[in-house]
Amino acid sequence: MRVLQLGVGSVGEVTARTVASVPEVDKVVLADIDETRPQVVAGKLPAGKAETLQLDVHDREALVEALASVDLVINGLIPEVNLDVMAACLEAGTHYLDMAAAGPRDVVGTADVDEELALSDEFKKAGLTGLVFFGIDPGASDVFARALYDQFDTVERLTVLDGDNSSAEGVDYAPSFSPTTMVEECLILPPHAFEDGKLIRRQSLSKNFDFTFPKPVGKLTVWNVDHEESQLMPLFLGDKGLKNADFFIALDPDWANLLLAWRRLGFDHNKEIEFQGCRFRPLDLLVSRLPKSVDLIGKMHGAVCVGTLAEGTIGGKRVRRYMYQVTSHDEAYEKHGVQGTGWQTGVPAACGAIMLVRGQVPGHGVFAPEQIDPAPFLELMPKHGAPWGVVDLPADEELRV
Ligand SMILES: NC(=O)c1ccc[n+]([C@@H]2O[C@H](COP(=O)([O-])OP(=O)(O)OC[C@H]3O[C@@H](n4cnc5c(N)ncnc54)[C@H](O)[C@@H]3O)[C@@H](O)[C@H]2O)c1
Repeated sequence: MRVLQLGVGSVGEVTARTVASVPEVDKVVLADIDETRPQVVAGKLPAGKAETLQLDVHDREALVEALASVDLVINGLIPEVNLDVMAACLEAGTHYLDMAAAGPRDVVGTADVDEELALSDEFKKAGLTGLVFFGIDPGASDVFARALYDQFDTVERLTVLDGDNSSAEGVDYAPSFSPTTMVEECLILPPHAFEDGKLIRRQSLSKNFDFTFPKPVGKLTVWNVDHEESQLMPLFLGDKGLKNADFFIALDPDWANLLLAWRRLGFDHNKEIEFQGCRFRPLDLLVSRLPKSVDLIGKMHGAVCVGTLAEGTIGGKRVRRYMYQVTSHDEAYEKHGVQGTGWQTGVPAACGAIMLVRGQVPGHGVFAPEQIDPAPFLELMPKHGAPWGVVDLPADEELRV
């Protein structure tokens, strides 16, 4: 099989290297607007498996031509282009995988999870498969939710908890993934949440509590922000009495306070403002002060844990089970020469792609991670360097959401 890795950034490098390691994949075409990235990463793939291509995703003709020459595309670009790439896949006859959604359309003008899932019938008719939102979170977090859901008799609450205790050399604050996405998620998008059986929207950073992540991450303060899982888990895992679904991420206290101050100044939007004759977006100003994720490779020290907590019952007894994946930034760099978040996101995306290549998917159509069989995915993750764990938390405690 031939695979196109579209976007060879921090995540795309890891995904490309991982899919190239399986015998079913003969070639990986590394495509990026940047001329040098594909060449640098090509040298890290098994001999004879890499091809390189300079491509701007906005050049529709070149995109369709590149897609027509492969069986599967792994989209590692910003999620705003997902619908365009999916449409091009339908034209070229190519299977599809991405790692996150954009949207919501009414706030940022780009497609959310619903618009990607709505293409399912078109993919089915074309005999194609699309796996959408397959990173670590969303992605593995949703597969963990599904695996736990299958173990429980009743599931009342599903909560994704993401905590990173790392610091970065030479910078006060360093988002471990795209700074624009980070600011949008934490400040601009009103987080979806499933509360008392209804899908609602909250204000971001309106809730926080302390959560003790498995070692070596430890206790961190987590905050509510917008994420795909709060929509996906109720959509696919609601039949065992689900009442609440949420996403919380640990934020450095100084960073959380800065974002809250930015909001108090009226900058929690993505529109241009005018100041002394200049027009600019406060979002871009804030992002311009933050390092890019690729610039932090080798400079992050600490570990990140992403997991899903299911609270419900098994055999009439209350159970609170957290299924998680921990990646050390230091180890990711020492062993693989990449940043921890790139590793932790890229491996699950590759596991989804490998399942697709092996025909271990539900068939044709567009599928969220909750809809696939969790067993092969959970078997592939540790094989490709992303082991997961499970812990039962005290049954008599509650999350203070
Ligand atoms: N689900 C998750 O857990 C998770 C976590 C982190 C990132 N992500 C997603 O993964 C994706 C990639 O993240 P990343 O950290 O690797 O980003 P990155 O910025 O490191 O990489 C993006 C790559 O796209 C290339 N690119 C930019 N514009 C292009 C264009 N017009 N045409 C072709 N190539 C272009 C860039 O040169 C870069 O190499 C994003 O969609 C992000 O939202 C998902």
